[in-house]
Amino acid sequence: MQVVLPLPGNEPMAASLAGALGAPLGGLETRRFPDGESYVRLLSDVAGREVILVCTLAAPDEQFLRLVFAARTARELGAASVTLVAPYLAYMRQDKRFQSGEAVTSSHFADLISKEVDRLITVDPHLHRHKALAEIYRIPAVALHAAPLLADWIKCEVERPIIIGPDIESEQWVSDVAGRAGAPYVVLQKERHGDRSVEVAVSDLNTWRDRQPVLIDDIVSSGRTMIEASQGLIAQGLKRPVCLAVHALFVEDAFTRLSELAQRIVSTDCVPHPSNLISVGRLIAEALRRET
Ligand code: R5P
Repeated sequence: MQVVLPLPGNEPMAASLAGALGAPLGGLETRRFPDGESYVRLLSDVAGREVILVCTLAAPDEQFLRLVFAARTARELGAASVTLVAPYLAYMRQDKRFQSGEAVTSSHFADLISKEVDRLITVDPHLHRHKALAEIYRIPAVALHAAPLLADWIKCEVERPIIIGPDIESEQWVSDVAGRAGAPYVVLQKERHGDRSVEVAVSDLNTWRDRQPVLIDDIVSSGRTMIEASQGLIAQGLKRPVCLAVHALFVEDAFTRLSELAQRIVSTDCVPHPSNLISVGRLIAEALRRET
């Protein structure tokens, strides 16, 4: 028997998973004490059950302690197992010590999560220098892929698309989406100079001028990657792009700035955002059923 418990902000995804699984949607009460510490209380009976904690990790520093407290309390109260469903998995991009003294947070975060839950289910984690979650996670960690969902959306919504990846890292999902959508693809060259500073070199795309560019990236954070790529496409006389993201972090003014360039911005609901149009709920529910 399962019970689905949402961490704050994850109620819609948890409700959709509970519905798809036919499992009860449990409750978790959380609040901040005046000094900022977290209060956590499980409102559901978890004894003997598989507890599914739903917690996308777009704000990991804010969520992490509450997640740990919830997972530990579930165990203390007799949960048979604790599964973390984190549609967006944080701390995957600092996967190397680029400068001396830097923390390789992808590995440290993986170690912390591995100590707290029995298994992890996530969607399109940013695997670049780590080729698989198993390299850093010590628990069963399932990486699901949104590519089929993105491809289906493109097939329904975009006429004569040309799929564009903004950097070499994006080739893995861009080629997959393009193949499924039956569309050509190109990958641009990106150089990152800082957190909010990137340069994207756009090769000659003249042959694709009559096509609708669809820019795809796994994560949009500061938005600089998508913004620079969009500007480069428009400067070459291509149509304003449709921008598609798996994880819509859109920090600060990223969404407003990209909206000025894009024809449309669409994302999956891995991270709740007004641009969410593609649901990963069924994908995750199927994985939960399969892996149980
Ligand atoms: C990293 O290479 C990722 O695939 C994204 O391109 C990156 O995280 C986007 O970040 P930002 O929106 O801050 O440019």
